Amino acid sequence: MNESNVFSRRRETFCSRLGNHAAIIPAANLVTHHADCEYPFRQNSDFWYLTGFDEPSAVALFLPYRPKGEQYILFVLPKDTHSEVWSGFRWGTEGVVDAFDVDIAHTIEELPKRLGYYLQGADGIAFRIGKHPHIEPLVLKIWADYLEKLPRTGFQPLLMMAPCSILHNMRMRKDRHEIERIRLASKISAEAHELVRASARPGMNERFLQGIIEQYFLQQGTRGPAYGSIVASGDNACILHYISNNSNLEDGDLLLVDAGCSLVDYYNGDITRTFPVNGKFSSEQKALYEIVLAAQKFAISKVCPGNNAEDIHSVALRLIVEGLIDLGLLVGDIDSIIEQEAYKHLFMHRTGHWLGLDVHDVGAYRLGDFHVSLEAGMVLTVEPGIYVSDRLPIPKGQPEINARWKGIGIRIEDDVLVTEKGPDVLTSYALKSLESMQK
Ligand code: GLY
Ligand code: MN
Ligand code: MN
Repeated sequence: MNESNVFSRRRETFCSRLGNHAAIIPAANLVTHHADCEYPFRQNSDFWYLTGFDEPSAVALFLPYRPKGEQYILFVLPKDTHSEVWSGFRWGTEGVVDAFDVDIAHTIEELPKRLGYYLQGADGIAFRIGKHPHIEPLVLKIWADYLEKLPRTGFQPLLMMAPCSILHNMRMRKDRHEIERIRLASKISAEAHELVRASARPGMNERFLQGIIEQYFLQQGTRGPAYGSIVASGDNACILHYISNNSNLEDGDLLLVDAGCSLVDYYNGDITRTFPVNGKFSSEQKALYEIVLAAQKFAISKVCPGNNAEDIHSVALRLIVEGLIDLGLLVGDIDSIIEQEAYKHLFMHRTGHWLGLDVHDVGAYRLGDFHVSLEAGMVLTVEPGIYVSDRLPIPKGQPEINARWKGIGIRIEDDVLVTEKGPDVLTSYALKSLESMQK
């Protein structure tokens, strides 16, 4: 299937589910880094999912209630030689009609003038309040004006709803095209992890290894890291989102690397591996590594249709708590420890998240009391961990921790596709057995 079919098929599904509502889906804007320098552009994933258009400051309208040829409207930055000399090519209004299957294109300056016209005839407006401050006042003003006229005109867009329930339901179930892209992102990410493990030596700086990972991502033609790469040696690994990456690797420390790439079309990998810097686990490191690995493998075995994210978390949690009791790092009855959350100073996060165009991808995990069941085509991470440090208070009734355990942070994370045949681990190229982590 070619790329443009992928996007047009998604638009068809989205519009059929919108019914008589209009959807307003804005692109991302450029974000200032400092002074007049901007961060590299990152498209809004909802907008990308429906359009495949990678410019900032655009707005897409989806209007299924309008006549054919007037249902997919894009407002874009105008062609402008001067701006294009400084910041690069723009498709402009004519370009997007030809290249992106748009019905009608206007320049973005025309949005205030034309939005009201296009919303005529809609029963409601699907627009995410609170996320797009640059156009929200305009959308609300037009909606308010319509409501004002309601007694005289009768039918106008009455409802304001979030598009997420439709769009994020679509995004959490990956089609064949998306699965292949996530498979590729996962593979490249896994290769970088193998590379970094082969390179790490005591005395190196974390940042040097970050360079090896990110250089590999770029060499493979990706956009680079999907999120701030975490290269955390020793106690730094107990900071879950440590991205300073500026310590030297000490002989005897573990190194936790949590890094994944983002492809040009924004699909991501997200992998964590933890290994001894000098190639040999201490007995404490080995004991904790074995617990996390067993928990992670057992949790992965539960990734199948019908189970849910809570099932996966519970089995990992149970094995971790059991292992920590065996080592004397927790005391008491396993069920009470879990119920009282008396393990949270050692394992303080959930066991995974959806993965896709966003690293922490969209989609509900539960609807009220109901846990969303896994279905073939969903992709999630499985990433239990144990982090032993002094940062969090020890829960009442739990033991003080002997210094020999401190400064050990371990997480093992894989990206897993749900299939009818069971879990498909997309990141298996990155080894994780105890033996393969040692030199
Ligand atoms: N890399 C962030 C996470 O694992 O969720
Ligand atoms: Mn993750
Ligand atoms: Mn991660």
